[in-house]
Amino acid sequence: MPEAKIAPSILAGDFGNLSSECKRMMHNGADWLHIDIMDGHFVPNLTIGAPVVTCIRGTLPKGESFFDCHMMVSEPERWVEDFAKAGGDLYCFHYEATKDPAALIDKIHAAGMRAGCAIKPATPASVVFELVPKLEMVLVMTVEPGFGGQKFMKDCMPKVEELRTKFPDLDIEVDGGLGPATIDFAADAGANVIVAGTGVFLAEDPKSVIQLLRDTVNKKQLE
Ligand code: DX5
Ligand code: ZN
Repeated sequence: MPEAKIAPSILAGDFGNLSSECKRMMHNGADWLHIDIMDGHFVPNLTIGAPVVTCIRGTLPKGESFFDCHMMVSEPERWVEDFAKAGGDLYCFHYEATKDPAALIDKIHAAGMRAGCAIKPATPASVVFELVPKLEMVLVMTVEPGFGGQKFMKDCMPKVEELRTKFPDLDIEVDGGLGPATIDFAADAGANVIVAGTGVFLAEDPKSVIQLLRDTVNKKQLE
């Protein structure tokens, strides 16, 4: 299993001070920054677009921080170039939002980014099996996408187990409701990329929460 990566979701940060919130997370030991892009169409909420990501990137140079862009948008094909230019490192589209995932993955790679494919709670893991050889990451949503602060859906864990058994070296990300109280379920199932919004941003000591999440995942690899 690949090593743990902890990706705080900046959706839970102070949007009036996004750069300093991103830096705060990096200083507290974040491996990646998880950037939630919502278009008010694929999900019933709106967040930010490429211009804002460009501005954050301006304060956090490439190589110093990894931007994991979670694209909760219809027509994910439309924004690939913009996010590559904005400084995205990984472009994670939703399987449910595209008719031709294989072509989209090629487009993401051609733009110089890693490709990830996300599946909603009701989407079976089997839809990504054929795509995995082309993908750098699969994201198994553990809440309905759209809002932070929701309850972790434990019943999504069999999908993580299924993927981990089939693909021992794949980056498998989980997103939604993760924190000290739920990390064991995700780590036991085999997830190694952990998104946490409220669990980290609202913590009194984000550094120790990030460390706890990482240690829990890495410990599972040794068992
Ligand atoms: C939900 C987003 C998540 C969200 C996670 O649609 O994709 O990344 O910010 O927030 P928490 O950790 O608070 O559930
Ligand atoms: Zn997300």
